[in-house]
Amino acid sequence: MAPLVWFVTGANTGFGLMLADLALSRGDTVIATARSLSKFPEYLTKKPNADLVETEVTASAASISRLVGAAVERHGRIDILVNNAGFGHFGSVEEVSEEESRYQFDVNFFGLLNFTRAVIPHMRKQGSGVIVQLSSGVGILGPQGAPIYTASKFAVEGLSEAMTHELKPFGIRVHVVEPGVFRTDFLKSIAHGENVSRHVEGYADMGTLLSTLHEKQPGNPEAGVQRIYEIATGTGLATGLEDQLRFPLGSDCYSMLEAKIRMLKETAEKAKSIALSTDY
Ligand SMILES: *[C@@H]1O[C@H](CO)[C@@H](O)[C@H](O)[C@H]1NC(C)=O
Ligand SMILES: *[C@@H]1O[C@H](CO)[C@@H](O)[C@H](O)[C@H]1NC(C)=O
Repeated sequence: MAPLVWFVTGANTGFGLMLADLALSRGDTVIATARSLSKFPEYLTKKPNADLVETEVTASAASISRLVGAAVERHGRIDILVNNAGFGHFGSVEEVSEEESRYQFDVNFFGLLNFTRAVIPHMRKQGSGVIVQLSSGVGILGPQGAPIYTASKFAVEGLSEAMTHELKPFGIRVHVVEPGVFRTDFLKSIAHGENVSRHVEGYADMGTLLSTLHEKQPGNPEAGVQRIYEIATGTGLATGLEDQLRFPLGSDCYSMLEAKIRMLKETAEKAKSIALSTDY
């Protein structure tokens, strides 16, 4: 396979960094973004095929579009956009504030939308491209304790599902990757009380609940990142799955998918007579 040009947001830590490392080790080029250049690990700054870019995912659409345009000029193309930057904010509707809700959507949805919108015209001109959206198990099924985070991932799923139709004729593929709970730093900040809203008496204490999961997460990040690489490139276990939109990762996430199917089946049965009673 010819070397590819990747564009990975939030590539200074977790899945983003591991994916950048993996692609670089295969001889690909990676345009990697982080909030600040100082957030990248030292070794990455020494890799000739790593193009490190400083940006907030919440930057204006114009500045993201300029940054993407400049990257295309430097490398000739972008084969794969990985919208990886994102985080989970926990707490009930009553607990999560207006500002926290907006910031969750700004990072997880509108930031991703701005990068997606900036990259599409270049991929359309190339007549090829792959857009990989990092969603989550909560993009499939809404569990207790994170309704706003869930809503932001449902937004990503809806956007991506609907987008596939308009982009397919241009040779652009869209994939949504839904990791379950992996042993990355995702829960570490939560264990320190970050990204959990003020507690209102009577609701489950998400901070305490989640911190008990830290370091007991079932997902192996190395395997997860290997699969993401394969999904984006249509290789390995993902060979022949280029038309597949959703990829849950992890047994926990697969169980969420099965629970969702059961829920939808039940809806189809129980709500059928009402649904079919309202046509002319
Ligand atoms: C996305 O682009 C719009 C339009 O420039 C801008 O208002 C917004 O702040 C950008 N980022 C987010 C996260 O909404
Ligand atoms: C915690 O929230 C902040 C925003 O308040 C975000 O930048 C950070 O990435 C989050 N951390 C994790 C591990 O999700």
